[in-house]
Amino acid sequence: MALFAGAGSLQLLFMVAAICAVLALALLIAIHYLLSTSQLSTVPKTRRKQGPAHLLVVLGSGGHTAEMLSMLRRMPLDPTTYTFRTYIVTSGDAFSASKAVEFESALENQYNVKARDHGNDNSGPVRVVGVESFDIVTVPRARRVHQSFLTAPLSTLQCFWACIQVLCGTHPDQRPNLHGTASPYPDLILTNGPATAVGLGAVVSEKFAAEGANVAISYASNADRAKQTAAKIESKYNVKTAIFQGDAGKKEDSIAVVRSAIEALGGLDVVVSNAGYTKMSKFDDLYALEDEDWDKCWAVNVKGHMYTFREALPTFNKNPEGGVFIITSSVAGLGSTGSSMAYAVAKSASIHLAKCLAKTQGPKARVHAVCPGLLLTEWADIFPQEVIDKHVGQTPLQKPADLEDTADLYISLAKNSSMTGQVMAVDSGFALR
Ligand SMILES: NC(=O)c1ccc[n+]([C@@H]2O[C@H](COP(=O)([O-])OP(=O)(O)OC[C@H]3O[C@@H](n4cnc5c(N)ncnc54)[C@H](OP(=O)(O)O)[C@@H]3O)[C@@H](O)[C@H]2O)c1
Repeated sequence: MALFAGAGSLQLLFMVAAICAVLALALLIAIHYLLSTSQLSTVPKTRRKQGPAHLLVVLGSGGHTAEMLSMLRRMPLDPTTYTFRTYIVTSGDAFSASKAVEFESALENQYNVKARDHGNDNSGPVRVVGVESFDIVTVPRARRVHQSFLTAPLSTLQCFWACIQVLCGTHPDQRPNLHGTASPYPDLILTNGPATAVGLGAVVSEKFAAEGANVAISYASNADRAKQTAAKIESKYNVKTAIFQGDAGKKEDSIAVVRSAIEALGGLDVVVSNAGYTKMSKFDDLYALEDEDWDKCWAVNVKGHMYTFREALPTFNKNPEGGVFIITSSVAGLGSTGSSMAYAVAKSASIHLAKCLAKTQGPKARVHAVCPGLLLTEWADIFPQEVIDKHVGQTPLQKPADLEDTADLYISLAKNSSMTGQVMAVDSGFALR
């Protein structure tokens, strides 16, 4: 038996080595082809400084697409400079492709309004907005979620080759002559990676700061993100901020974060208990998660809220107008669905915790649970695109929950002095089933 296993492993090793050798050879041939053809090209290698530019935008799945398009909206993107835009999406990512079309039509509307105000009609020889001024190119996925590592090198190579074609302007989805640019090569490539996406906590913090509140932010591992959020809201809204590290899965950390916040801000009126933990797994597989995964889900998604509330309550009780405690739960807690069974069960418990606290801990404490549907934050990157598309397809509004809309609910709940114990879904109607 042991010998058989050993021979099998050796065979597998040879197979992997052979696949790698073939792929490496294919890569070398591709690079050689690329270098030789690029040398023969008559396309100018440089661009006039103020000349029209070709912008290449790489859209990732879910959160990265939302974040990238949000950055482009804020730039703001000037189509008279970036006269042609190419968007790269991966196969099956209908969401990113539709978002790129949506973005382009908004750009066209804005441009037309501006042009009309300046007496132009965008009917010159080179149209810088509209369908002639952008391409959406689909490349194969480098690796699908759960795809075997044995086949992943092959799909990665296919993806790599398609990207090279895009860079050379020879991909079948690209038009041969790009409007208004001298070269098919992109002049500027925009891409964003993990750990840059804005989370719900950052947007909620900014909304409270906009209302004039001083804000304490706690984080578990991403200190940079917390610092960036604090720096942004401090300079933009001229409010006081404080940052604390703490693991919501640890009792002493939950307590310490509340104490430090009260000390740093000189009081406490609203707590948004937003930390969440999950481990993506097959929902109906009872053996998919270890005991530790269930324990961590329970510790962060349920007990952490309770310890945080308990530490905040004496201050709420001293405040003339009391205090508000808002738990971020999830639609996963409203139905039998989500990233894992342990997460769904724990989020459901957090909803019940909010109701129990509201019922028993008043009159100075108002407690609510907000249940977001799919939010395209960094969190959503754990979901394969098919799951995102399926989720969106099941919502009456046919879209993921909007981050701004979700954050606005926290403000409304905090301001409303006649509500407590409410469980509110911001989910494009997903839970209505
Ligand atoms: N995105 C969705 O589709 C979705 C849907 C329903 C509910 N939610 C809930 O919304 C909340 C915010 O998620 P998000 O979408 O904004 O995703 P996110 O950007 O990944 O944020 C998750 C946050 O939880 C913090 N966190 C994780 N483990 C922690 C721990 N042990 N102690 C303290 N903090 C911890 C993270 O801190 P660090 O950054 O420092 O690690 C991060 O700030 C979570 O409770 C999540 O369950 C999200």
